[in-house]
Amino acid sequence: MSGCRVAILISGSGSNMEALAQSMTGDHPARPAIVISNRPGVAGLARAARLGVPTAVVDHTRWGRDRAGFEAALDAELVRAGAELVCLAGFMRILTADFVAARAGSMLNIHPSLLPFYRGLSTHARVLAAGDIEHGCSVHLVTPDLDAGPVLGQARLRVREDDTAETLAARVQALEHRLYPLVLRRFVEGVLDPVMLEAA
Ligand code: GRF
Repeated sequence: MSGCRVAILISGSGSNMEALAQSMTGDHPARPAIVISNRPGVAGLARAARLGVPTAVVDHTRWGRDRAGFEAALDAELVRAGAELVCLAGFMRILTADFVAARAGSMLNIHPSLLPFYRGLSTHARVLAAGDIEHGCSVHLVTPDLDAGPVLGQARLRVREDDTAETLAARVQALEHRLYPLVLRRFVEGVLDPVMLEAA
């Protein structure tokens, strides 16, 4: 297979994974090499299989508190797949600085907020609690600090009066599915200036 080999790491439903994998066709400079989940049996694995993308499970619970052991197993799968670029897509494990450093500049993540605001979890509820009028998502390079790497793209929407955490999550996810493939393609093509999208 030609093109940059991309590994996509997931923990759950894999809707961003699907958007990424489906985008890597035709004249796209990358191809999905493997989808790896840290949780067995999640919907994203079945989705990947349906798309014809090889899958692997590295179940973090097998290593207990041994993060280095888990990451060594993860790294072995990445190496086996010949992954040159890693896209975290709803991957719910925090990676150690050593793991991140080993792949510095070649690991992307999607985060459901307009970074640098709302790093971490429960972003939609926190946006509502703060009364913000804008929200969105960001794709960034992964660095050892959580959700703090350079932003490569953002998509924004206006928060509605009647939004709940659930409606916001759904609306932000629709933006994620547009933003992440766009940023991935630009990144592989060497375009690093951030791209900004607005909800229709
Ligand atoms: C996405 O909303 C992403 O922003 C967050 O986790 C969610 C994953 O959803 N980090 P999916 O597995 O891609 O459907």
